[in-house]
Amino acid sequence: MIRFITFEGGDGTGKTTQLKALESHLQSKGCSCVSTREPGGTSLGKLIRQLLLEVGNQAIASPTELFLYLADRAQHVQEVILPAIDGGKIVLCDRYTDSTLAYQGYGRGIDFDLLRQLNQFANRGVKPDLTLLLDCPVELGLSRTAQRQSNAGSARGREDRFEREKVEFHEKVRAGFLAMARAEPERFRVIDAARPMEQVSREIQIIVDREMG
Ligand SMILES: Nc1ncnc2c1ncn2[C@@H]1O[C@H](COP(=O)(O)OP(=O)(O)O)[C@@H](O)[C@H]1O
Ligand SMILES: [Mg+2]
Repeated sequence: MIRFITFEGGDGTGKTTQLKALESHLQSKGCSCVSTREPGGTSLGKLIRQLLLEVGNQAIASPTELFLYLADRAQHVQEVILPAIDGGKIVLCDRYTDSTLAYQGYGRGIDFDLLRQLNQFANRGVKPDLTLLLDCPVELGLSRTAQRQSNAGSARGREDRFEREKVEFHEKVRAGFLAMARAEPERFRVIDAARPMEQVSREIQIIVDREMG
């Protein structure tokens, strides 16, 4: 029985869009779900998210960035994810541990063994049952987030700090996610996120329905 589903992938791959679509699908089948995200899934986490956003152009040292994400996750697991799983709900989470490995490991170059240990400490060993990796070319994802921001009339967001990174950074992150998916094929499903939203949603529904039996 799957209880904990994470959405991973680069910016603009459609994680937030697809999480909402899956939530509606599961609710229409009578499943009780909790949708949440990282960073910012708790009230403390919202402050951390704000810290990550609001430093604007100011550089954040890599370890500082890492610890802020881990602090957010530790609180999120304790306050939201574990209680929901224990309460029999299905948890849908927009980014989780794999994002730390992709961005801070493959992207920033922090040692993987160290990251794995710190992740394990922060998440208390709580692992997703299923991880949907939304994958599309970096340029496509970035063009979608640029569009999203101009629609929202705001140039601020967590993604902005990463958006200022060069395309090469995002390529490393994308390759990192794909390498993790290859290494753990039983947990990951790689979804071609370059297709229209409805097609992506349908594929995700089929995968999740099948996994749920
Ligand atoms: N398959 C798709 N095709 C075209 N546009 C999409 C698709 N999925 C999402 N979008 C749009 O791209 C932008 C980024 O999607 P979003 O779900 O916020 O991505 P993420 O959460 O992965 O950063 C949004 O404006 C969304 O409406
Ligand atoms: Mg999002």
